[in-house]
Amino acid sequence: MISPEIVEEIKFRSDIEDVIASYVTLKHAGSNYNGLCPFHNEKTPSFTVFRASKSFYCFGCGAGGDVITFIMKAENLTYVEALEFLAKRAGITIPLSPEQEREGIRREKLLAMNRDAAKFFHMSLNDEKTGATARDYLYKKRGLSKAIINRFGLGYAPNSFNALSDYLRARGYTDEEMAIGFLCGVSKKTGKNFDMFRNRVMFPIIDVSGNVIAFGGRVLDDSVPKYLNSSDTPVFKKSRNLFALNFAKANASERLILCEGYMDVIALHAAGFENAVATLGTAITPEQSRIMAKYTKKVIVSYDSDEAGQRAASKALSLLHEVGIDGSVLKVVGAKDPDEFIRKNGDKGNIKFKHLLDNSESRFDFRLESILKKYDLAIPDQKLRASTEVCDMLADIYSNVERELACSAAAAKLGVSRESLKTDTERAHRRKNKEAERDTKRKIIMQTAGFGDRINTDAAKNKAASSAEDTILGLMLLYPEYTIKVKKGEIKLTQDDFFTAFNKKIFAKILDLTDETGKFEFGMLGEEFSPDEMGRITELRIRREKLTLNSEDILLDSINKLKNENSSTGELSDIEKILARKRADTEK
Ligand code: UTP
Ligand code: MN
Repeated sequence: MISPEIVEEIKFRSDIEDVIASYVTLKHAGSNYNGLCPFHNEKTPSFTVFRASKSFYCFGCGAGGDVITFIMKAENLTYVEALEFLAKRAGITIPLSPEQEREGIRREKLLAMNRDAAKFFHMSLNDEKTGATARDYLYKKRGLSKAIINRFGLGYAPNSFNALSDYLRARGYTDEEMAIGFLCGVSKKTGKNFDMFRNRVMFPIIDVSGNVIAFGGRVLDDSVPKYLNSSDTPVFKKSRNLFALNFAKANASERLILCEGYMDVIALHAAGFENAVATLGTAITPEQSRIMAKYTKKVIVSYDSDEAGQRAASKALSLLHEVGIDGSVLKVVGAKDPDEFIRKNGDKGNIKFKHLLDNSESRFDFRLESILKKYDLAIPDQKLRASTEVCDMLADIYSNVERELACSAAAAKLGVSRESLKTDTERAHRRKNKEAERDTKRKIIMQTAGFGDRINTDAAKNKAASSAEDTILGLMLLYPEYTIKVKKGEIKLTQDDFFTAFNKKIFAKILDLTDETGKFEFGMLGEEFSPDEMGRITELRIRREKLTLNSEDILLDSINKLKNENSSTGELSDIEKILARKRADTEK
């Protein structure tokens, strides 16, 4: 818990335009700003920052809220983490609660333990006797140099159930800490700790601040599992980290290279490509894409050359595209992965890989190739199907110029005329645009009808009541003077008058957060509501703001409607009302 005074200070010093401007290029639009929404892919700006209310809202995807909601969404953080993030940015130190202090100490201890473990593994690798086979493996079998082993802090976990735990215990770490940190397991039989990593070469995973946060360990032979990785711990989230980003971040401005394996990354760094990173034994996650987007605009995906690797590359391209990264795919030839490629090519490994990098396939080329591979173009029927699929893909390209250029390239490869491919593509493009428009309209209609409302799930049960509530809340969010009248009892409205639980909660919170002078901090709602809910609350206010009739009469009228709805229906929902009427009809 951060004290309300500090929260206020953080908000005061985190100017929303300023904060958002480092994520979105903002342009003046009247008294507000707008730009391209960072939360969904769009070509025309529907993302707006409202200066007066210090809030944002996207008319395209419904994202909205205050500066904290924005950071929660953009940086993928919890409410408290977002506050910490903004505090750091504003140069404010947050005093810790005793509980946080304990948590912080625990994290520090786990990180220190990991560092000691990494030292132990590294020492074991260098130990004349213990590390002999592992050194042989790394130097001879994997072709690594002493320099690169030291740079990555590689090590060896001895073939023992207690070597590491004895070492750590002697340094003051408890068995519980070792188990929490995934360095030890606990035997079901004896209840005693045993070393998790045994007889494996060890790869420390280091975060961008230089902390050892986890380990990967590889067997020296063909036994399974080939790699054992730390699972998530209090200091490690697999889905939020990338191997070697600690080094690559400094070399990322032009582009990053994304690989599948630890050894690929190490081989590439050894060959001078210090911008290589890898996911940690899983497919790339949206979080990892967003992390990369912080450091670069271009990523070259360099996965295994087999079919699984190429399929994974295609998925990675889509995820990267979603966060605005220009992704392309590199395919090593004559080798199963980048590591093998570099090693096979010896002295020329570096130059040859550079050539592959510079000739990597764009997202479009890559998709075109994967379509062409499926068909035999010599057979007319298959050529037709290939062309149809290509048109469908080309139709998704937004820019007219890009689409036209891509059409020419694709026509040549397909062996069809540019004109006919273009005509078909344009037709598909128009059809898709229309479909998208229709979808949006349908979504809006469904939403205004209260159906499929994931946020206010009760809305569909009584549309009239929930829409009266929306009006009431919109007005209260916009005009604190109404809230004061409600508080004083001059306007008769209580929580019990509300039909939907979501709106009831908003109402209660607005009353809570408005003081006698009418001061209302919209941003304080973020403590209680999720970013999605904040988007909806922002929408309630903005929808109201756009209307000219916002008088007290409208408010009173809506309150009457709400009260009537509730008293006339009791607990009956719209659907139940219809059913009741039907029953009455048949009985007649
Ligand atoms: P690969 O099987 O492609 O291995 O797994 P590799 O990187 O080429 O390994 P070497 O060259 O044989 O040493 C790619 C990545 O998937 C994860 C690891 O992160 C590995 O680097 N992986 C693989 C696991 O986590 N567990 C496994 O058992 C296998
Ligand atoms: Mn490999």
